[in-house]
Amino acid sequence: MRILLVGNTGVIGSAVEARLRERGHAVLGATRTNAERPTDLSDPESIAKAVDQAGEVDAIACAAGHAAYGPVGELSGAQYRDSLGNKALGQIELVLRGLHTLAPAGSFTLITGVLGTYPVRTSSAASAANGAVESFVRAAALEIAPRRINAVSPTILAEASAKAKHLFPGVEPVTASKVANAYVRSIEGAETGQIYQLF
Ligand SMILES: NC(=O)c1ccc[n+]([C@@H]2O[C@H](COP(=O)([O-])OP(=O)(O)OC[C@H]3O[C@@H](n4cnc5c(N)ncnc54)[C@H](OP(=O)(O)O)[C@@H]3O)[C@@H](O)[C@H]2O)c1
Repeated sequence: MRILLVGNTGVIGSAVEARLRERGHAVLGATRTNAERPTDLSDPESIAKAVDQAGEVDAIACAAGHAAYGPVGELSGAQYRDSLGNKALGQIELVLRGLHTLAPAGSFTLITGVLGTYPVRTSSAASAANGAVESFVRAAALEIAPRRINAVSPTILAEASAKAKHLFPGVEPVTASKVANAYVRSIEGAETGQIYQLF
């Protein structure tokens, strides 16, 4: 398959890209710093250009998305708008644009995270963004068949930076390899409207 993967150089994205390549797929990367397909989830125009540049693909996946962290009373409205604009609306934009170039039997695989289901202190913006993406996935799946759409929702990764781990006391991390398998399940399988919770 030809697969467009946004965020292919990150902790999750690089594991996903490696697993997809092992399985014989061609991966077209897209990040803010990608020379061929510069893509910023907070910039709809860049998403449109990257999707159009990739042309017809069999799958569109995302392993990127930023949200702000901080106490509810300290995060500004602008920080909530940026968080939702990037991780939630950026991924929704990817789907809207991708519907024009995704093969009829193709799939979308988006990224959320445990914080949509089990928030921690300071996670309200990330939790809101994850929840929005998950609700979108369930709803969009009802309308885009035969195209499919799923989301991957991991807990903290074993490979994640040490500075985030204190937010998850007692939580067993998941490996990037296990997260990559969930993308394979979404892309190569037949399921739609699913949230693959890895926690
Ligand atoms: N790490 C975890 O423990 C964990 C757990 C659950 C969920 N998640 C979620 O998984 C996603 C990826 O996390 P990660 O830890 O793999 O991130 P990461 O290591 O920081 O990598 C992020 C990737 O996305 C790209 N990127 C960053 N900002 C972007 C933007 N605005 N538009 C397009 N691409 C962008 C980066 O490349 P450039 O810098 O070149 O743009 C990079 O390829 C995030 O949404 C995160 O919330 C992570």
